[in-house]
Formats: sequence, structure tokens, C-alpha cells
Amino acid sequence: MREQVNFGKMLHGGDYNPEQWLDMPEILEKDIEYFKKAKINQVSMGIFSWAMLEPEEGKYQFEWMAEVIERLYKNGISVLLATPSGARPKWMADKYPEVLRVDETRHRNLFGGRHNHCYTSPVYREKVRQMNMELAKRFGNHPAVIGWHLSNEYGGECHCPLCQEEFRKWLKEKYGTIEKLNKAWATTFWSHVYNDFSQIESPSSRGENGVHGLNLDWKRFVTDRTVDFTRFEAQAVKDGGSDLPVMINMMYNFSGLNYHKFQDVVDIVTWDNYPCWHKYPEPETAMDTAMQHDIMRSIQKRPFLLMESCPSATNWQSVSKLKKPGMLKAASLQAVAHGSDSVQYFQLRQSRGSSEKFHGAVIDHYGKEDTRVFQEVTEVGEALEQLQEMTGSLTHAQVAVIYDWENRWAMEDAAGPRNENLFYKQAVEKSYWAFRKQGLDVDVIDMEQEIEGYQVVAAPMLYMFRAGFQEKAKQYVENGGKLILTYWSGIVDDTDLCFLGGTPHGLMDVFGLRSTEIDGLYEGESNQAIPVEGNSLNLTKTYSCEHLCDLVKTDGAEVLMTYGSDFYAGMPALTCNPYGQGEAYYVCADFEQGFYDEVYRKISSKAGVKRIVSHIPYGVEVTTRENEKARYLIVQNFNRNRTEVKLPTEEFQLWYGTYDGTIAGFDTVILRKEK
Ligand code: GLA
Ligand code: ZN
Repeated sequence: MREQVNFGKMLHGGDYNPEQWLDMPEILEKDIEYFKKAKINQVSMGIFSWAMLEPEEGKYQFEWMAEVIERLYKNGISVLLATPSGARPKWMADKYPEVLRVDETRHRNLFGGRHNHCYTSPVYREKVRQMNMELAKRFGNHPAVIGWHLSNEYGGECHCPLCQEEFRKWLKEKYGTIEKLNKAWATTFWSHVYNDFSQIESPSSRGENGVHGLNLDWKRFVTDRTVDFTRFEAQAVKDGGSDLPVMINMMYNFSGLNYHKFQDVVDIVTWDNYPCWHKYPEPETAMDTAMQHDIMRSIQKRPFLLMESCPSATNWQSVSKLKKPGMLKAASLQAVAHGSDSVQYFQLRQSRGSSEKFHGAVIDHYGKEDTRVFQEVTEVGEALEQLQEMTGSLTHAQVAVIYDWENRWAMEDAAGPRNENLFYKQAVEKSYWAFRKQGLDVDVIDMEQEIEGYQVVAAPMLYMFRAGFQEKAKQYVENGGKLILTYWSGIVDDTDLCFLGGTPHGLMDVFGLRSTEIDGLYEGESNQAIPVEGNSLNLTKTYSCEHLCDLVKTDGAEVLMTYGSDFYAGMPALTCNPYGQGEAYYVCADFEQGFYDEVYRKISSKAGVKRIVSHIPYGVEVTTRENEKARYLIVQNFNRNRTEVKLPTEEFQLWYGTYDGTIAGFDTVILRKEK
């Protein structure tokens, strides 16, 4: 990883497409005036501009861009310059059909849309390389330009012959011999044995799709190809003479790519956030969004950018709901609270035609500044100016939750105890929420990341143990850590082969138990956990559970709770095993939130986790950031109504917002403690 990027200011801006307005210069003039009014200090430009940058093969047309950049610069507005690879011009697709993607049914796409390129095609790569180098030569050292926005929301896969060949190479490198691959994929099942790497093809709904090891490796390959393409793009701007930070914009809970693999490829993580505010109670949406922010922050464990968000309503969700007054600011500052150094929008000026013409924007078709949205955007800009000092500050979490992409892929394919839904994300959320409700900052990490140093680590549903997780976990508990593992963990290895000899594999001694069977419950079925008298966590309440019930046989672990019904009534539902200096907790079933809230609170307090705000009302979020100078306590009220919160005003000074023992609905308060 290169050094932490710090732009020296909280960025406030977003996607800007002046190429859509070149025939209306008065609009471009107005844009600058409005940007300044709204305290916009950054734009992302060039995303999807290829046809305007290279209208004919090899004929570059950069003057319009030069003019806009110059004008922005004169007005103190920075530019994140995009490479245009997210979409390509028609001439290219016509002349070189290989640049277009082939889908899993082995049909080549027609020209159109975006994200429609083959990332292996030497022609596409060469075109991208030339373009990126030209852009870098021309603008890569312009004082307005502060970084590279590579492509746009990489995603999807290509099944063309070139990609198939790369996949085979990738497999050969990974397994060495075809025998090893056959073993890892268990290909004797249904007679799917390969004699040679040349016989292997990507999974397809028309062909092979039941070899789980193949499916899993294909997904890994897709991530690796995308990483490779990202590196390729980054190298091209470097070769064009620009050493500015590179970034890609990531997406919400996107399953297609393991974003952790981009940890040292990008200089700063950025992501596009479009929650469905007002669809559910706002505190729930806030919690969901909070976890995504923390996933993004945890990739590099340093500040990220909120690269896109909508100033009002999107036009692609099932209903285009307006943000109620105050929601934009609350949502924007939530990103900052969780570690963002920016608030950026899609888009600054609303396009006139095509599929996003009704997508929310800072400046809409009316074209003036006296709109509610413009006013609220301006307020966000003003807030960010006040919070400038927080730029670059870090979050130090005492606890972590593991949410692992490859585990998710494997589990979705498993054909195990429930095929309707295993509720993996929900299981992670329950752990996450249980920590957040105590006002704790939470790192959301994957299995490859370090767990040493956290006071409590929750590992829900780690079906697949990979990256030596079991050894890491053992060490962690031995050294005094408190580890919480749940049902359906440690079942398969990293090629989805079941572990033999008992599960959770490699950790049965650490947890003092063995999982013997797992019961899948139909929708509507439930069981309960009843506290055992005198249990060491002082649990006294009964909680219900659904979906999955693990039946474990203890060998040394303390049973804290037992099942209340069915033929396994009386068997363990929650256990704790002291191991080395630490403790290993095993949660046997998918419990209701209240279970996690109580159990995690008690485990955290046993672990000596420090809390800053002792009671946090429903809908209130507490986060911290810190730098050499100060520690910031950010408190947000996602309730519609004013809410009472007791904040540690003796220790921290009120620094931003209004607080009188209560916080207004959708309002944010920041307290500061000088170091
Ligand atoms: C994505 C894309 C943008 C735009 C927005 C609309 O995040 O990156 O180009 O399409 O969605 O919400
Ligand atoms: Zn391809």
C-alpha cells in the first residue's frame, strides 16, 4: 500500500459531464458560479467521455476538457480525472468486435450500454493504454488534477475465448497439475474428471455449473482479472507521466468482486452509496449504510471517499423517493463519521436525455440555484468546511466482525442446510449492530486480515476456513482474545472440500465442542435459547431463533444457554470455553437481535472494551475519528424526532452542531477532545 492519501480538504463535489453541454457554453459558465455557491470544491470528470475524447480512431480531441479543467482551476476546484474505459465508442466495437463482452451462454454482446468490455482483449487493453497515457501526458500534472478515477464501477465477467485461455493459465498456475485440480474440485463426482487444463471452461448455465470448486475459482479469477485490469490502467497513467493517486469506485454489498483484493492496488478506497432512505425506518437504513461504510474503511483501515451519492432521488430504485429535509446532510455526515474524507454526488448537473435524465442532481433541469436540493447541498458544503480539520483522521476500532466475500460465494453455492436463504449478511449485521448499539467503532474485515489486537472478534457463519484462519483464531484466543464463532462454521476448505474429522475444523479444542448435526428450519418455525442457571454471563432472558440450529456436543465448554424445544431441547444453544488466556464463544443458532445485543454487551464489558457514551437511544449513532491533535465524537440522530442523549461534555467539548441534552431529528453533533 502506498502512503495514505490526504487531499488537505474534505472534498465536496461529484460526477460532472460538461461534454453533454458543449453546445451551450452559457451552461458551463453557470456551473462554475453555482459550484462556488454550493461550496463545491471538486469534480469527477471524463467518466464515459471516450467518444468525445477520441471521436475517430487515433484522433484525440482534448481541447474541450482542457478548457473546462482550466476554468475549474481558476476557480479553485479540483478534478479527479477519470479514464473512460467504462464505456467505449461505436467505432471501436465495430472495428474490433473482440472488445465486447461474451456472456456465460457464450454469446458476444452487441455494442451498447456500459461495463461491456472484455478485460483480456489485447486490442481493448491497447486502446485503454493509449488513451490513459494521452490523458496523463496532457492533464496528469495539471495543478487542478488531484487523482485518477479509474473507469467506473468495475463489474461483470467475460467468457470469450481469450478470457477462457487466461482462466486456464490461472488454474495451471494455481494447481500445477491437473490431478491436483481434480482432487481440489472433487471431479470424480458425476464423472467430471479433466484430463488436461485445455478442457476447462468457465461455468455456464448451459454446461458445467455444479462443480463448486470451479464456480469458486471462476469468481476468484474474475476478481483477479479485474485487479489485473486495474493495475494495467494505473500503469498506463503512470507511464504517461502522472504519479497521482489512483482509485476505483466500489459498490454496495457487491458480490461480483472481492474488493479486499484491491487493498494495495488503489491508493484510496472510494464507493458509491445509494441507500433507500425512507423505505424502512431511517435508523435501520442508517445501520445498514453504516456497515457498508465500515466495510469500505476497513479494507485499508484508513479514510475513504464517498465517491457518489444522490442529492435527492435516484431514478433506478423501485420508487424514486425524495429525501426529506435534513436527510441529505445526515446521510452525508454519516459517511464522514465512518471515515470518509469527502461527500460527492452523482451528479452535479442533471443530464437532458437518456436513461438518467430524471436522476437527482445538484442542478436540475430548471437550472437555477433556488431549489430545495441546491440549498441542502450548500449546507453540506458549509458543514464540510467546518469539519476540514478532521480530514485524514483515523478510526481505531476495539472490536471487529468478519464478513468474508469468498466465504459468501461458497456459501451461496453450498446446497446445504437451507437453500432458500442462509441469511449470511443478516448474521453479520446482527453482530455488527450489537457492537454499534454500544457506540463502538467496528472494523468489518475479511478472513485474510489480522485479528490480533482487537478485544473482541465476531465471526458469524464462517462456513469456509481459508487463509489459515483456524491457526490465526487459535493464536488469537490463546493470547487473550475473545472470539465469537457461530453455527455453520469451519465446514469446508478453500476449494469447498468438506473437512473430515469434525467441525468447526481445527478449532474443536478451542471451542470445547463438536458440531454433530445442523437443522434447517422452515420459514415460520422457531426454537428458543433458555439461560442455564448461574451461567457466567449472567444471562436471564429467553431468546428465539430461526433458520438454522446447530446441534453441538460439548467437550469442556460451559453451556450458557440451551434449546427450549424440539428433539434437541436441553442441548447447548450458547457455549463458552476458556482457552489459553482468552475465551471462545459458540453461538449455535440464528438468534433474534436482542440475544446478540445482550450477549455482545456482556462479552465486550468482560473484555474491557471502553465505551464513551453509556446509554445510546434507538436511532442514535456514535462514532469516533482521531488525529494527532484531537479525538472527535460524532453523534447522529437518525430518528425523525428530537431525542435525548447524555453525552460526555465534561471530557469532550461541543465542536459542531447544537446540543442541549437533546439532538434534533436527523441532526449531527460533534464533540472534540484536544489531545
Ligand atoms: C452508479 C454509476 C453512475 C450513475 C449512478 C446512478 O453509481 O457509477 O454512473 O449511473 O449509479 O445512481
Ligand atoms: Zn473476454
